[in-house]
Amino acid sequence: AQANIGVVGLAAMGSNLARNLAHHGNTVAVYNRHYDRTETLMNEHGDEGKFVPAHTVEEFVASLSKPRTAIIMVKAGAPTDAVIEELANAMEPGDIIVDGGNAYFPDTIRREKEIRARGLHFVGCGVSGGEEGALNGPSMMPGGTEESWKTLGPILESIAALAEGEPCVTHIGTDGAGHFVKMVHNGIEYADMQLIAESYDLMRRGLGMSAGEIGNVFAKWNEGELNSYLIEITSEVLRQQDAKTGKPLVDVIVDHAGMKGTGTWTVQTALSLAVPVTGISEAVFARGLSSQAEQREEAAKQELAGPEQRIELAQSEREAFIEDIRQALYASKIVAYAQGFDEINAGAKEYGWNIDQAAVARIWRGGCIIRAKFLNRVSDAFESGEANISLLFARYFKDAIASAQSAWRRVVARAAENGIPVPAFSSSLSYYDGLRSDRLPAALIQGQRDLFGAHTYQRVDEPGVFHTLWAAEGRPEIKQD
Ligand code: 6PG
Repeated sequence: AQANIGVVGLAAMGSNLARNLAHHGNTVAVYNRHYDRTETLMNEHGDEGKFVPAHTVEEFVASLSKPRTAIIMVKAGAPTDAVIEELANAMEPGDIIVDGGNAYFPDTIRREKEIRARGLHFVGCGVSGGEEGALNGPSMMPGGTEESWKTLGPILESIAALAEGEPCVTHIGTDGAGHFVKMVHNGIEYADMQLIAESYDLMRRGLGMSAGEIGNVFAKWNEGELNSYLIEITSEVLRQQDAKTGKPLVDVIVDHAGMKGTGTWTVQTALSLAVPVTGISEAVFARGLSSQAEQREEAAKQELAGPEQRIELAQSEREAFIEDIRQALYASKIVAYAQGFDEINAGAKEYGWNIDQAAVARIWRGGCIIRAKFLNRVSDAFESGEANISLLFARYFKDAIASAQSAWRRVVARAAENGIPVPAFSSSLSYYDGLRSDRLPAALIQGQRDLFGAHTYQRVDEPGVFHTLWAAEGRPEIKQD
């Protein structure tokens, strides 16, 4: 036994993580079902640190010092289950199996229970930052027992991204908590990307700007409060020229957005927890609509009625409108994060996790796809307790939305008038307006429910549950106990 950590699954993410571990002084056992991948890693990067290549799971396990700690980086679902089973069979009580894939958190809860019953630790660990992050410093969200964190913590801290000197990893909570938080991270990632896409669309189709010009706008926005990885790469994508046609690359990419399922899980989970995550949901649905090829082709053929998708503005007003879009993006982003954190809060209550939201915001400041300057403010808001009920009530964000809201409304109104879809901008605004309404039309819905189904309602002036005998005119309402 000579390695203090092992990695199973040496595709791009796995081999980069193994290299990152080796770069930081760990001795890393590496194993892949087909040895050629292990060989490639050893040939190309074997001199970067200490690796112990293994041909079989048994050899791999034997090369680990106790408590044996192995990180699995294979496809979510059945392949993960297969590797867990093989490892668990070869390991001993006290050993630690870490799943670093994008697992669905109920699977992680189930696996943790099964593995714990066998005396081993199972840690579902969200890993964000893509291939580059895995190599140079990801943000990591491990769940599992406190005890496993004692062994795993220092190893993960050695390879995590740093944000203001702090490693972007923390023990999120027991069993599936880490994968739950990673799932919400991805939901927020979808919302961020959709909001950026809507901003782009308003400038491209709305204002008729070129991809390159818009790339420059994003580069400028990246210098201010919107500073983030996704804004930064947006300017890079928009400035990219296609080698074949010389056109902006974005113009030759088919406009059907793909997805692997984590955004959908975030929304499904939010629905079952009854948490409105309108920004994230609209982002998932917008990807869905973009990929409905048959319906979109038919709509084009039928020339569905609508205004010309162009916003006519005098030259002097264009700059101001671009600034309005920036503010709408910022306000909507705040709402999307508030909703995402609401989901984390609701999940923590439902599954009995003690999740430190400030710590979650802190580890998202570096390494992950949604890393952004504004996460400093988010972590401060949770730290101070101002965001206990919602991020929207923390002074900084309350003020930020207060100053952005007129711009936000102008953008949504213009977009609607000119037929440019802004589902995430507009649903976030509606959520905000819904939240701040002292009376909502939900009272009417309660009346309807009581009329057609005797579902009862509560009164504003008296405690209890009431039902009205609707058909009998003039008959008083009756109270139900
Ligand atoms: C990350 C990302 C990553 C995710 C991709 C693709 O945090 O590094 O979230 O985990 O797999 O972003 O996701 P979609 O294919 O669903 O867009």
